[in-house]
Amino acid sequence: MVIGATGNVGRHVVDGLIRAGRRVRAVSRHSRSGSLGVTPCAVDIRDADAFRSVLAGADGIFVNLPPTLQKEDLARIGADITKAGIPITVLLSSDLVGSYPDSFMAASHQREETALGAILGDSLAVLRPGMLMDNDAAEWSGSIRDDGNVFTAFPDALEVPIAPVDIAAAVVAALTTHGHGPKATRRLLGPEWLSARDRVTVLTKVLERPITIVEISAEEHVALLARRLPDPIARQKVAMRAVGPRSIAECPDLPVGKEGTPYAAWAAANAPAFGVSRPGSRTRIPCGTTTSPRCPPRTSR
Ligand SMILES: NC(=O)c1ccc[n+]([C@@H]2O[C@H](COP(=O)([O-])OP(=O)(O)OC[C@H]3O[C@@H](n4cnc5c(N)ncnc54)[C@H](OP(=O)(O)O)[C@@H]3O)[C@@H](O)[C@H]2O)c1
Repeated sequence: MVIGATGNVGRHVVDGLIRAGRRVRAVSRHSRSGSLGVTPCAVDIRDADAFRSVLAGADGIFVNLPPTLQKEDLARIGADITKAGIPITVLLSSDLVGSYPDSFMAASHQREETALGAILGDSLAVLRPGMLMDNDAAEWSGSIRDDGNVFTAFPDALEVPIAPVDIAAAVVAALTTHGHGPKATRRLLGPEWLSARDRVTVLTKVLERPITIVEISAEEHVALLARRLPDPIARQKVAMRAVGPRSIAECPDLPVGKEGTPYAAWAAANAPAFGVSRPGSRTRIPCGTTTSPRCPPRTSR
């Protein structure tokens, strides 16, 4: 069973399980028609009865949980998984739990790890990925489509983005090859440290169009992110980039090898997410559906 089956990570978990010869129950609130072997289940995980009704008979479960779930909801979900006798649960957490434990984003994952760990014990495997490559599409696609620009306050801050397909591969491995006993919490980072400038260089090549980095102030960067994220989260993301490493010498060693999907391969597979249907063409989209600072804010704040 895959909770969050239509998300950036979940849809690759569904595909990976199908490739591994499993049948999948694909849970999300908005069901999509299933391909061969996939049963879509339109269930809101906050609805206790609906959640219980889809658990029976599952032999493994991947959970990507909404951040609003409280201790009681998590205890109920853990108890239902235990009652259903599911031998392995894989939780999508975040590297921030270890690297930035006081952040808002870490708090919900810490709560999930603690509450589910207390109930599920050795049957819980926790995966803590770092920054998803898909964040760049969410942050930059509008301004790239509009003007060929990427706005950032920290063009040289190094990050280590990971492709969701690599996270999904780790999920599928944990679901299909688990044994008895405690499961190590796994940190999942991408194959290389890259700055926004490095990533824009790759995107310029892959999307076959010029892209310019426009430096903005930290406050402008917060305002830009706050168009699609809650304000405190936008502030924390900017604060984290402000203190991020600027040279490879400052970067900690990567815990996994270099076998992960390179950024260029991710970008090539995700060109449509940047609104580039024909390489070289400049498709404009209406103001108000972009993240470009040249557009007026969607809401007055
Ligand atoms: N972005 C990053 O850099 C990063 C880094 C590390 C960790 N993470 C963590 O990764 C997670 C996000 O993963 P993602 O990008 O794959 O998520 P996503 O693309 O936003 O997908 C969320 C999935 O969950 C489903 N969903 C949401 N609320 C639900 C509910 N109440 N009941 C059932 N299904 C529900 C959604 O479908 P419906 O809307 O149809 O329900 C969708 O399938 C977050 O926990 C984040 O903290 C992110």
